Amino acid sequence: MSKALLLVVCCLTGVALASSETNVSDGAPQASEIDATEINRILALSDDVEYGEYLAGECASCHAVEQVAGSSVPVIHGAEAAHLVQSLLEYRIGVRDNTTMQLIANGLGEEEIAVLAHYLSNTGR
Ligand code: HEC
Repeated sequence: MSKALLLVVCCLTGVALASSETNVSDGAPQASEIDATEINRILALSDDVEYGEYLAGECASCHAVEQVAGSSVPVIHGAEAAHLVQSLLEYRIGVRDNTTMQLIANGLGEEEIAVLAHYLSNTGR
């Protein structure tokens, strides 16, 4: 079974968290596991922007709508939905190694990632 397929199967069976932890400790996560097909599959799960707005309240304590001078926290409002999904998945599998965002991304289900991406990409700028 290909790694990409394995990732999809893991996510569908709800053990994505366990598999992402394995990847982190492997030290060799594959960025190529996150392709356009996987991103589009997640984006198609839900476009409930009201749920997205509710969830994004948790993000707003760090992520401002406008870039704060000198801040290391990037603006995520108005970003491309696909970019948001990809970034969150990369934190989950450890391709991106920011501890704060890894914890947050690991706490999000795929449907939550989808609604956050749909909501955030339509806000700000
Ligand atoms: C405690 C502060 C904090 C909270 C809360 C937080 N973030 Fe972050 N976020 C960060 C920091 C710091 C970075 C930059 C990390 C890095 O350098 O990789 C980041 C980066 C990101 C990125 C990557 C953006 C890019 O273009 O590279 C995304 C996407 C993101 N956060 C989404 C979210 C979402 C969605 C939420 C709410 C569910 C959230 N964050 C909550 C601090 C936070």
